[in-house]
Amino acid sequence: MSELLAPTPLPLGNLIDQPADALLGLIALHRADPRPEKLDLGVGVFRDDMQATPVMRAVKAAEAHIASTQASKSYLGAEGDMLYAERLAEVVLGSAIDHERTAGVQTPGGTGALRLGAELLARAHPGATVWIGAPTWPNHAPIFGEAGLRTRSHRFYDIERSRIDFASMLDELDNARPGDVLLLHGCCHNPSGADFSTGEWQAIAALCEARGLIPFVDLAYQGLGDELAEDAAATRRIFEALPTAILAYSCDKNFGLYRDRVGALWIQSANAGVNALVRANMLTLARSLWSMPPDHGAAIVRTILEDEALRTDWETELAGMRARINGLRGALAAAHPRLAPIGDQRGMFAMLPIAPEAVAQLRDQHGIYMAGNGRINIAGLSARTVPVLVAALAPHF
Ligand code: LMR
Repeated sequence: MSELLAPTPLPLGNLIDQPADALLGLIALHRADPRPEKLDLGVGVFRDDMQATPVMRAVKAAEAHIASTQASKSYLGAEGDMLYAERLAEVVLGSAIDHERTAGVQTPGGTGALRLGAELLARAHPGATVWIGAPTWPNHAPIFGEAGLRTRSHRFYDIERSRIDFASMLDELDNARPGDVLLLHGCCHNPSGADFSTGEWQAIAALCEARGLIPFVDLAYQGLGDELAEDAAATRRIFEALPTAILAYSCDKNFGLYRDRVGALWIQSANAGVNALVRANMLTLARSLWSMPPDHGAAIVRTILEDEALRTDWETELAGMRARINGLRGALAAAHPRLAPIGDQRGMFAMLPIAPEAVAQLRDQHGIYMAGNGRINIAGLSARTVPVLVAALAPHF
């Protein structure tokens, strides 16, 4: 009798509670704060001087063009819009792409590209470990982990000194085995803003070659650090130097298409035969993950890249965004000696050398919102608020 009355285990009873995403949670926290002088330095979206994230001019024009000319919304296939991937490859990889050995597909955002690459690696080499430099974007390890791959963190950055600790990185990567994967930020490192020098990139390429590691580049901020070609230079070098290389790309930031989820994945293989296998596997994996990527954002990017006037306008507006970020970097660097390294770093983010308690205090006492590790979105600042931030920070240095 008692057995009959015993509660049956829930079919979903193995689930455990999950904390809300801390970075995305900052959006709601900031929104709920009634203080008018509050500062949102949280999630990485570009903001102009008025703190708005406008739709880019070229995007608006491309959308209007698509709305008036698009004749069908019929399916395209698991690879998405191949002309989008081809036009984008010219911007990203330039002449470093070897079409015989490289498969590229459209993905839902950079996250989709990372996940598809992770799923392919898990299928191709399930025993591989993915080496991820710390600190990094908090979604990196979960993406690879959920695909079933082992991840290991290695030291990359000295937060206290605000600079790359390359010697420690090489030291720790001594434990990597052939077939392991090395995750690299192509430019505008998230969260530190600290990018490798040309010499360090050469050393990384040599290390990958000598130890048989697969470089997996995440490039999500091309054009927001330096010119488009400069921000892609390291990725191109990696693709030229090594037989096998992977690139996950996002158009979310440099085209301002965040919620449209626009990305791409390219995988370069040792030869055309392996490339055919890789491509076939990318397509079956994509089919099971999302069947087909959403078209609208990719159609916008393709329209811009295929039209000379729109492309010029996009590059001009992107240059303005970059100049705004780099101007704010200069202002921060000049405002306090502890912030000086920010002037030489690049991209949307910088890490303040402060403790988590200071991050909480800045939020509670001053309404200044940033990631728990002290990462700020520089575009959330303005010439008026840089001194506000620096004054609030000073007691914590
Ligand atoms: C960020 O790091 O803030 C952005 O890449 C947004 C995100 O998805 O986390």
